[in-house]
Amino acid sequence: MVMADTEKRLIIAIDGPSGAGKSTVTRLLAQRLGYLNIDTGAMYRALALFVQRAGVPLTDDEALARVCSGVTIAFERNNGGYRIIAKGEDVSAAIRTPEISRLTSKLSARRVVRDILTRLQREMGRGGGVVLEGRDIGTVVFPDADVKFFLTASPEERGRRRYLELQAKGEDISLERTIAEVVARDEQDANRELAPLVRAADAIDIDSTGRSIEEVLACMEGMVWEKLKAVNSE
Ligand code: DC
Repeated sequence: MVMADTEKRLIIAIDGPSGAGKSTVTRLLAQRLGYLNIDTGAMYRALALFVQRAGVPLTDDEALARVCSGVTIAFERNNGGYRIIAKGEDVSAAIRTPEISRLTSKLSARRVVRDILTRLQREMGRGGGVVLEGRDIGTVVFPDADVKFFLTASPEERGRRRYLELQAKGEDISLERTIAEVVARDEQDANRELAPLVRAADAIDIDSTGRSIEEVLACMEGMVWEKLKAVNSE
């Protein structure tokens, strides 16, 4: 189904822990709706990469602000997916290493960094027609999002998915260690003071454990079309 130009374009929030399948369903959902896919985790990762290169300690707010506010971030469509361009550089691969994952989890707990990205994400999504994935989209960035999903899966399944991804990239890491790292990172994300990973009270829970992407996507897409019909007949 294709909506007419005058129809309201939604803001869709997809939050949840790592490895729950957010990136894939966000990308596919955005594709089917003709919406922009905003991977906010990739934005935090891009800042972590530049902070690492600058050698700035995570406790130095002034230096963090200087480095982070100088990083422009854009998503470029590429073969049904997208590339992350930061400061004009394609950082899509460089931001996906285990080291950057660990640094990002720590960096994303800093207020100065969250303020910069929250503002940027609001600007990018303001007009609607966006699917944003992250940890705090439905609670902090867009508390009034039109549809909010909280996507989860068991820690074992999330660890296994991340392990397969890393293996495919040639990373030398064990399954046990990957599960432990996924769990540790989620604890850090869920227990931090600022914008922790929590489910918005009005989010729709989706558990992807043992379900295919197609199955999960069909369920979410159905709910989005219902919402689109409802808002456009108001
Ligand atoms: O989704 P991801 O694994 O690429 O996210 C990387 C890190 O960034 C993860 O530790 C959580 C953090 N993050 C965040 O704090 N807020 C967001 N909106 C998105 C990601």
